[in-house]
Amino acid sequence: MMNIGVAGTGYVGLVTGVCLAEVGHRVTCLDVSEEKIQLLKSGQSPIYEPGLDDMLQKNIREERLHFTTDRTEAYQNKDMIFIAVGTPEGENGQADLSFVKKVAVEIADTITNDTIVITKSTVPVGTNEMVEDIIRSRTNHTAHAVSNPEFLREGNAIHDAFHGDRIVIGGNYEPAVEKVAALYTPFDIPVVQTDTKSAELIKYASNAFLATKISFINEIANICEFTGANVEAVAKGMGLDKRIGTQFLKAGIGFGGSCFPKDTKALTSMSAEAGYEFRMLNAVLEVNELQHNKLMDKANEYSAIQKGTKAAVLGLAFKPNTDDTRESPAIRIIEELKHKGAEIIAYDPIATDKMKAVFPDLTYTDSLEEALNGAEAAFIITDWAQIKEQAPAFFTSHMKRPLIFDGRNCFDPGDMLDGGVHYHSIGRSGNSFRMTMST
Ligand code: UGA
Repeated sequence: MMNIGVAGTGYVGLVTGVCLAEVGHRVTCLDVSEEKIQLLKSGQSPIYEPGLDDMLQKNIREERLHFTTDRTEAYQNKDMIFIAVGTPEGENGQADLSFVKKVAVEIADTITNDTIVITKSTVPVGTNEMVEDIIRSRTNHTAHAVSNPEFLREGNAIHDAFHGDRIVIGGNYEPAVEKVAALYTPFDIPVVQTDTKSAELIKYASNAFLATKISFINEIANICEFTGANVEAVAKGMGLDKRIGTQFLKAGIGFGGSCFPKDTKALTSMSAEAGYEFRMLNAVLEVNELQHNKLMDKANEYSAIQKGTKAAVLGLAFKPNTDDTRESPAIRIIEELKHKGAEIIAYDPIATDKMKAVFPDLTYTDSLEEALNGAEAAFIITDWAQIKEQAPAFFTSHMKRPLIFDGRNCFDPGDMLDGGVHYHSIGRSGNSFRMTMST
């Protein structure tokens, strides 16, 4: 059992703290937000994540998990301290390290024993060395820096923590790396031990590669639209080649969320700063930008949206099973619809509150029926199960004009055609196509 402090109770810090407590470590999580800490102390998670609340409550009850706003409680007498604060997008796309630096200073000024400082936040190459330098310049206690990037997906975080593909641990002082590796023994996940800089880059390279796969398949989808091929058949045929793999080949309206857009930009910016232009990744970002416009381009082709058209936006979260709306393609669609003077109703089962922060004056609903009642066009942005499980009749019976622009390919175009829906999706030959591919 180790005594662990965690700085930051955002997505990464909270899930890390809860999961480390679950396997038996004693964990104290720190945040500057009094409100958040009070909520967490009462066993409620500020983020929506399946399974998190139960595990949080259990570990608080069993006294392995504590929350505080007091630095001494979080940092003193700890074997290890995790830095899990945000690294938001800076002015020129680079990662803003001000929170990381601040925490490093506070750790240095608070610790009363030697410790290991582990950075979980996504940080540019060289940041762990900087953290170590900051601490060394302010205290005589030793604090070896270890990079341990996070690979959790939102909406699957607890599952991923226990069944991830790998754990990456990078450090320049072998005993510290070994000690961090030992921390993860109960998870029984392959560990990659490496130097600090390589570990830092593994995180960016992994996210950038996944983003590249998405932009690649979206480009193929666009070619499909020009040529009459079907992107789902193409993705399946490609993905069965194990060297390519089936995952992250789902064409759609483009990637969003708090990670891919930010991390791809940070990597291009980091490369440029190092003197290297990452051409391919710049193209990945450009393709994603264009893809966010895709549904609106299609709607424009049909002059579907006029002033006063009643338009339903179905799904606000950047993907299902999360209430996170950061960089969601829904934002662009809503802006465009507003610009055209459409009468918008926005549906999401759980993310409406988060979107209210961006568009306070919009009409929101958590009822799919209400969103579709009388609608003259619907834009599917998130592939929520609540949307995918509907039959064509659901749309024809509620909508005034059953016209659907689907950014997530939720339905079989042939079924929609038979059901009387005017259905437009991504990379499939619109209404005339019927899926014949066996699964
Ligand atoms: C991503 C990575 O998958 C995690 O491994 C990583 O830890 C995390 O970022 C992070 O850096 O913190 P996440 O942002 O939760 O996780 O979401 P993903 O499930 O990867 O999806 C990202 C976006 O890509 C979503 O908008 C999704 O709709 C889109 N996507 C994904 C596609 O358009 N097509 C696909 O085939 C897959």
